[in-house]
Amino acid sequence: MALVAPSILSADFTCLAKDFKWMSDSQVDFVHIDVMDGHYVPNLTLGPPMIKALRPLTDLPFDVHLMIDNPDQTVDAYMEAGADIITVHPRTSHHLHRLIHRIKDRGLKAGLALNPSESPRDLEFILEDLDQVLLMSVNPGFGGQSFIPSTLEKTRILRDMIQAKNLDIQIAVDGGVNAETGKALVEAGAHMLVAGSYIFGSKNRDQALASLRAL
Ligand code: DX5
Ligand code: ZN
Repeated sequence: MALVAPSILSADFTCLAKDFKWMSDSQVDFVHIDVMDGHYVPNLTLGPPMIKALRPLTDLPFDVHLMIDNPDQTVDAYMEAGADIITVHPRTSHHLHRLIHRIKDRGLKAGLALNPSESPRDLEFILEDLDQVLLMSVNPGFGGQSFIPSTLEKTRILRDMIQAKNLDIQIAVDGGVNAETGKALVEAGAHMLVAGSYIFGSKNRDQALASLRAL
């Protein structure tokens, strides 16, 4: 069974409480929250005040995906707002090892996100410090893009690296995930599927969620 994290980027921003109720009732595994700053990625979404406002709506863990420049400067605000996992993009941080440990020292889980052009092999000296690696199967910035097939090979490489070192790290994949790409990803070693438009854009969300969970 795959873990599923609906990405609220594709939820109804005028009715988030309703979509949060659905996620709570459906007991999804994580709520995936995309933070974009309009610099690192060409889109702007939401920040700590919004995460803090959403926090009381559910007990589900928040998987906060930071697509922002210099998270070293602002990560505390996301931790205080109620994140459970914080995932950053390696090139956005000046002192990545220090940042990962700051997150973990507060009792949160820490993850790194790899863009389509980036290799898991570059994580050799940070891998064992991580709780999660989020493989981006689209270029970050927008929902509803097509899945980039080389993510499958990347998932297998990462799975082998994790197994070789006998580590306990969650492999999550984000972007263009649906029942078909999700199946191939789980076969390649993915544990968690992040899905925005496939779930929130579906006429039958329950069915869309079930189709991913069953993988
Ligand atoms: C893209 C975001 C994704 C996005 C996925 O930058 O990180 O989480 O919401 O959307 P879909 O599932 O529609 O590709
Ligand atoms: Zn994301």
